[in-house]
Amino acid sequence: MLILGIETSCDETAASIIEVQKGKIQVLSNVISSQIKLHAAWGGVVPNLAAREHLKNIFPVLGNAFRKAKIKPADLDLIGVTAGPGLIPALLIGVNAAKTLAYVWKKPLMGIHHIEGHIYANFIGVNPKSQIPNPNKSKSYKLKAKSFNIKFPLLCLVVSGGHTQLVLMKKHLHYQIIGETQDDAAGEAFDKVARILNLGYPGGPSVALRATKFKVQSSKFKVILPRPMINSNDFNFSFSGLKTAVLYETKKHPEMLQKPAYIAALCHEFQKAATEVLIAKTLRAAQKYQPRSILLAGGVSANLELRQKLGAAIKKELSETAYYIPEITYALDNSAMIAAAAFFRRKLSRKKNYSWPAVQAEANLKLSSL
Ligand code: KG4
Ligand code: ZN
Repeated sequence: MLILGIETSCDETAASIIEVQKGKIQVLSNVISSQIKLHAAWGGVVPNLAAREHLKNIFPVLGNAFRKAKIKPADLDLIGVTAGPGLIPALLIGVNAAKTLAYVWKKPLMGIHHIEGHIYANFIGVNPKSQIPNPNKSKSYKLKAKSFNIKFPLLCLVVSGGHTQLVLMKKHLHYQIIGETQDDAAGEAFDKVARILNLGYPGGPSVALRATKFKVQSSKFKVILPRPMINSNDFNFSFSGLKTAVLYETKKHPEMLQKPAYIAALCHEFQKAATEVLIAKTLRAAQKYQPRSILLAGGVSANLELRQKLGAAIKKELSETAYYIPEITYALDNSAMIAAAAFFRRKLSRKKNYSWPAVQAEANLKLSSL
């Protein structure tokens, strides 16, 4: 089965073609045109600027996706497009392009929830040679080669710029949100901390990079930040207070903002506080719900500290539970994940006729079970 995926919910224009065969997803092309440089000047994504860029890029990106995959539109079995949530002017470009193509090419079209895509990025086959560097050791550790045999029930920690949720899935496409952030998303907190520290946009990668420069033994800076809600009796999160604690810390020592070693200590402690809370809640939820697999999903799942520490904690405390993380390319916004989610919806839904008029862009689309 050949599926085209399209994603334009934020600041990446993306088109991919995947082939699904014998229980494995192979990504034939994964083209992403990033607008990061354009939005960096504004310190965040400007919706109408994003839409203008998507409009400019969507057809060249689609053309590249077909060229790289070496297939023709007639070969496609399905088109999947991100229908929401996201920035409405940005979503509309992808959705309208997809509807036009589905109409002209007479192909079924499916609107996909962006977070469903992030979760299904874990089902994309992995290049067995690909390795993720372990930030704490000189050795690398291998991602498990994946196919559809991820065992249910599964628990997925979703961490992106707009979402932080613990999602329990008893079977494919069935979602129970057992906990979520009460204020800022984890990625949003990384972005806001980067802004406070003048590290640029997007904040996650730059905070993570500064954190690696922190030297535990030799640093003369000792920063201590709170671990919000770490002991609360639920599976919810809160990151707004943690970000504010960073702000207060910098107000105490404004002159130190010029010192790279201080910035490194602050980023290290912030990242440690955020990941410790995420990991503690995930483990506690796993102890209660006893999933057979734990998955990590969303842009913040590209964070090496989180990938590594969550893996180590699961190995230590839940040795029977399998741990899956998406390859970095599929952790950040991409359209292969949208095509992968479309495959499962198409395969498992009784409804077979997906025609283009049913697909609508929706800024606040809710994650809905099959
Ligand atoms: O999933 P994503 O690409 O877009 C949304 O759906 O929101 O996630 C983007 C978020 C941003 O907040 C970005 O700062 C964060 O993911 N991020 C990271 C890292 N890479 C991206 N956060 C921490 N560490 C990273 N390495
Ligand atoms: Zn995303």
